[in-house]
Amino acid sequence: MNVVIIGSGYVGLVTGCCLAEVGNIVTCVDHDTKKVAALAAGRLPFYEPQLGQILGAQLAKGLLKFETSMASAVANADVVFLAVGTPSNADGSADLSNLLACARALGDAIPSHCVIVVKSTAPVGTGDRIEEILNASVRQADANDGIRVACNPEFLAEGRAVHDFRCPDRIVIGANDAYSSAVLEQLYTPFDTDGQRTMLMDRRSAEFAKYACNCMLAARISMINELSSLAGTLGADIASTCRVLRADPRIGASYLQPGVGYGGSCLPKDLSALIDLAQRAGEPAHMLRSIERVNVGQRQRLLKAICDYFGGGLRGRRLAIWGLSFKPDTDDVRASPSVALIRDLVQEGANVNAYDPVARPAAQAALGNVSVGFGQSAMAVCEQADALIVMTEWDEFKSPDLDRLATTMRGHMVFDARSIYKTKVLQQHGLHHYRLDQIMSV
Ligand code: UGA
Repeated sequence: MNVVIIGSGYVGLVTGCCLAEVGNIVTCVDHDTKKVAALAAGRLPFYEPQLGQILGAQLAKGLLKFETSMASAVANADVVFLAVGTPSNADGSADLSNLLACARALGDAIPSHCVIVVKSTAPVGTGDRIEEILNASVRQADANDGIRVACNPEFLAEGRAVHDFRCPDRIVIGANDAYSSAVLEQLYTPFDTDGQRTMLMDRRSAEFAKYACNCMLAARISMINELSSLAGTLGADIASTCRVLRADPRIGASYLQPGVGYGGSCLPKDLSALIDLAQRAGEPAHMLRSIERVNVGQRQRLLKAICDYFGGGLRGRRLAIWGLSFKPDTDDVRASPSVALIRDLVQEGANVNAYDPVARPAAQAALGNVSVGFGQSAMAVCEQADALIVMTEWDEFKSPDLDRLATTMRGHMVFDARSIYKTKVLQQHGLHHYRLDQIMSV
């Protein structure tokens, strides 16, 4: 099929590359000329395992190209995906300005058989708004079947997005007409390897299901984090508790890692957008609000533990940070707990030195003029540090040279915000250990 993807961000690019890989002719459109030039030359604008190889291979085969002009790209399209960002407005609602602007720009340019697919995460009812915009276009009003708009949410987790696209656990197609459903089903056939993964539903249900998934995931994290704090206070061990929880198939084994809370460009944004939708609909959304509160509370708990450890203030304290991205295997620092914590630490007067295997440039940009040092290696930032704070569980942080760490630092405390170390092991090397589920014992 002739596929056009509007928006060469993370979702658009993964979708474009993976659809080209199965033989579609894909044109990715983005208004950022520099980005388009880099992509056309095979350079990715962000870090994502495996994506670079697919990009190079599909460019070479001629199945993938990049353009800045939407009108020429969509002229022969069978399917147009809208995959532009829907960031949060200040009030928590989703900012649809980019998405709706794309719909307006598409207006006259699309052929009448074309299916428009909203891939961006957008509030329930957005498909209706886009359909209205498109059907108001003069040429389409002439064409007169009306324009077909479907919703096909993405379920890609950063760092494993290629795997998630190639081997999806579900393919959600939300369409109010049979033609769109059939076209999308056909497009996704190569990915539905056992024929069991495609879920057809109406458009609003698909829009809602996407939010429901991310809110459920966020709920799980806040629940395990709250249980983890409670376990610590009551003298129970959260790791043992997790073993018991995981053994229950109704609870499930994954996504139960306690830590400093969820971040990234999806969970926080989608939760606040659903709270906004609930509010507008007159629903109280008690659970959704609590999930958010618990998440923010995790970071506050960590900051308080650090301040308490140093007797209240951090002025003049030298703190090392390992990890800047919101999770491992990505350079994304959007809503990263690490970046937020660094701001707080600097505000408290600390002298912060941070290291991340890939996210330094993004973190530097996000932190702007906040005064932070960045090091070339994990050990380098620990030089004479009063404490180490591990914020992202990158593999390279999991088994550091602990003897060297103990002699490199001038203090001995490791704040382990992702619970990746064992207290006994650190103690054997003269280091103290703090996890969010523990009561400060030093
Ligand atoms: C999330 C969802 O997992 C994807 O299914 C979804 O498609 C995507 O949002 C999206 O809407 O685009 P992502 O934000 O890449 O993907 O990251 P996750 O791996 O889900 O992690 C989110 C946050 O939760 C991270 O900060 C992570 O550290 C934290 N987390 C995750 C925990 O604290 N504990 C866990 O057990 C799991």
